[in-house]
Amino acid sequence: MSTVLPASSKPFLRALNGEPQARPPIWLMRQAGRYLPEYRATRAQAGSFLDLCYNPDLATEVTLQPIRRFGFDAAILFADILLLPQALGQGLAFKEGEGPVLDAIRTEGELVKLNPGAIHQRLNPVYEAVARIKAALPAETTLIGFAGAPWTVATYMLEGRGGNDQAAAKMWAYGNPKGLDRLLTLLADATVEYLDRQIQAGAEVVQLFDTWAGVLPDEAFQRCCVLPVKMIISRLKAKHPGVKVIAFPRGAGVNYAGFQAATGADALGIDYTLPLAWARDNLWSRGTVVQGNLDPRLLLAGGSMMADAVQRLLQTFQGRNYIFNLGHGILPETPVAHVEQLIALVRGANAAA
Ligand code: CP3
Repeated sequence: MSTVLPASSKPFLRALNGEPQARPPIWLMRQAGRYLPEYRATRAQAGSFLDLCYNPDLATEVTLQPIRRFGFDAAILFADILLLPQALGQGLAFKEGEGPVLDAIRTEGELVKLNPGAIHQRLNPVYEAVARIKAALPAETTLIGFAGAPWTVATYMLEGRGGNDQAAAKMWAYGNPKGLDRLLTLLADATVEYLDRQIQAGAEVVQLFDTWAGVLPDEAFQRCCVLPVKMIISRLKAKHPGVKVIAFPRGAGVNYAGFQAATGADALGIDYTLPLAWARDNLWSRGTVVQGNLDPRLLLAGGSMMADAVQRLLQTFQGRNYIFNLGHGILPETPVAHVEQLIALVRGANAAA
């Protein structure tokens, strides 16, 4: 006979529910990844990054690796935000040392080539991985599903690759707003379907990654980042009232202030540029659950600078409404020993308090 613990016995869900906590739960963005030797071995076995994403056994294995090693409070599905454009029919490859390369969409006319009707066929292995991960996780560990927010996914679809100014997508935002709206709406619809299936398969929380939310001025930010995220959250909540949504509008700056009310997100991931006192006064003190925001490069550096920064975070967001995380993904060159040190600081410091 298996004992099923009530949801509230999971520290991560308790934090999202605003319950008091002696120490914050912790997980790290990109916690399954190249800094782990066991990840590099499984990835080599899979052949390529995409083969790993679409292999339910191996995707389950790499999702569980950081849970086994560190006992994080949450596991995040191993996949990528760019699987959705691929499922819609856009060509995608990950080139060694170069990152993602997509067959860029250049004109509005090309949008008809995207086929939302066929996404699940392609994404079924991802849902299968979710179910396997859920079955294998310790009872106290929460499973996070995820997708990219439409704006960030659109920046890759229109640019064809990563980069630092998102020029192509911004030119659509200013030169062809109707065309961009069409794409963002198509992506929001497909994202609702994608996350709905992840939740049905066992994801308990979902995170929307808006990595490039910080490159848009005010009006465009509202139109391209806030509105699609709001639409996704309201439709997911209509289907799954209990599911929690974390939004990560990286680089949103002062726009973080109204973001929760405008989108209906349950928690906000804050990036490492957001000043702590500002986040405390404008978000956390007003009841927002905050997740973040240690600079991944501080984790890479380790030592006393990292320890001091961790203490500042723990002191600033003490007692409730806080999930410890980085302010962006862990860097591949991060020593495993620094991650161990970080976890000891987060778990030890508050346990002793
Ligand atoms: O967090 C996790 O452990 C779960 C898996 C996950 C990956 N990507 C795996 C991955 C998640 C949540 C993502 C999200 C993602 N993917 C984002 C949003 C978050 C962020 O980092 O800003 C973005 C923008 C992408 C797109 C993407 N995927 C890029 C630009 C790259 C290349 C850069 C890089 O880090 O290599 C990837 C590749 C990628 N996604 C890797 C992993 C583990 C490395 C691939 C490899 O193993 O070679």
